[in-house]
Amino acid sequence: MDKPHILVTGGCGFIGSNFIRYLLSSGACTITNLDKLTYAGNLENLKGFEARPGYTFVRGDIANEADVERAFAAPVDAVVNFAAESHVDRSIMDPGAFVTTNIYGTYLLLEQARRKGVTKFLQVSTDEVYGSLGETGRFREETQLAPNSPYSASKASADLLAMAYHKTFGLPVVITRCSNNYGPYQFPEKLIPLLVSNALVDRELPIYGDGLNVRDWIHVSDHCAALALVLDKGVPGNVYNVGAGNERNNLEIVEIILEVLNKPRSLIKYVKDRPGHDRRYAIDNTKIRDTLGFEVHVPFKTGMEETVRWYVEHRDWWEKIKTGEYLGFYEKWYGSR
Ligand code: NAD
Ligand code: TYD
Repeated sequence: MDKPHILVTGGCGFIGSNFIRYLLSSGACTITNLDKLTYAGNLENLKGFEARPGYTFVRGDIANEADVERAFAAPVDAVVNFAAESHVDRSIMDPGAFVTTNIYGTYLLLEQARRKGVTKFLQVSTDEVYGSLGETGRFREETQLAPNSPYSASKASADLLAMAYHKTFGLPVVITRCSNNYGPYQFPEKLIPLLVSNALVDRELPIYGDGLNVRDWIHVSDHCAALALVLDKGVPGNVYNVGAGNERNNLEIVEIILEVLNKPRSLIKYVKDRPGHDRRYAIDNTKIRDTLGFEVHVPFKTGMEETVRWYVEHRDWWEKIKTGEYLGFYEKWYGSR
């Protein structure tokens, strides 16, 4: 029997590239990667994989029907949709691309998947669709959607559309809602790679507000394992929350980075808060553990130390990114904070 063929979108980004590496190393499937190569997409994230048997790259936009049709040229068994505009701060500066890619792009993929009759459509979503928590409680799958940023609102919209395709057309949709990821190949606009790459050149470390906002961190390899599990065993029509139970406030994160790099606390600079900044995220992962047997493998301290070291050892990778477009974004966003 032929191996299943998976269409991965956004596979040149942070999580998508880790996921493709994860799937190809198992050798259990073949993959088409549809990626527009926006500022966040980087072919270097999959260096060495280009010529692998069973791997095809298609440069294209999920919000363009002809590109989506091209990506479905080989018969597709399942879709894993990572492609998205993913940075909250950019969604505050310029929400348009978030609506186009995250909502309209998801619609085109759902439509094509419905026409072609795929066996699974995995929508990779985020815990940010639930909004913000107070001091206590954790997000469960039944928690009401209450997104606060244009980014999270666009992701919540895509979730609703995907579930409507399941209810209305019987498309076998599953949705994962994961907490904040960390690990190799994360674009240095996100907190951890931004702090590490700035600290390495003794640049200020911008911390929004009082630094006490809480995120629930998971290593990207644990997220990839959860996605593979849901792709394989997830029951259509279900949402699965994914998290590793590592709540940390942003000051704790910066402290770990400074300690590993042996840099001074004086690099920290408190800056004007992000508008609508969610205070706390925390995931209840009972459902994916109890129903699919998900287990967390990477302890937070080890994962963080390895991650910081990865950015130390891959300076070339982020130095190339922190030029041109990135510098324009940085100046526009941080220049006035
Ligand atoms: P990323 O920004 O690193 O990568 C996004 C990728 O999508 C890039 O390769 C980019 O080129 C591609 N892309 C963007 N627009 C496209 C379009 N119109 N057509 C085709 N490709 C396009 O993002 P990431 O951090 O890897 O996140 C991947 C997915 O996981 C997103 O859907 C995000 O919402 C979700 N997610 C991320 C996190 C996190 O902590 N990073 C947590 C939970 C869920
Ligand atoms: P981020 O990595 O942008 O992820 P998200 O906002 O999607 O959770 O930010 C993580 C946390 O770090 C969030 O509370 C905002 C904060 N933050 C800073 O304090 N300074 C920064 O420069 C950035 C990018 C984020």
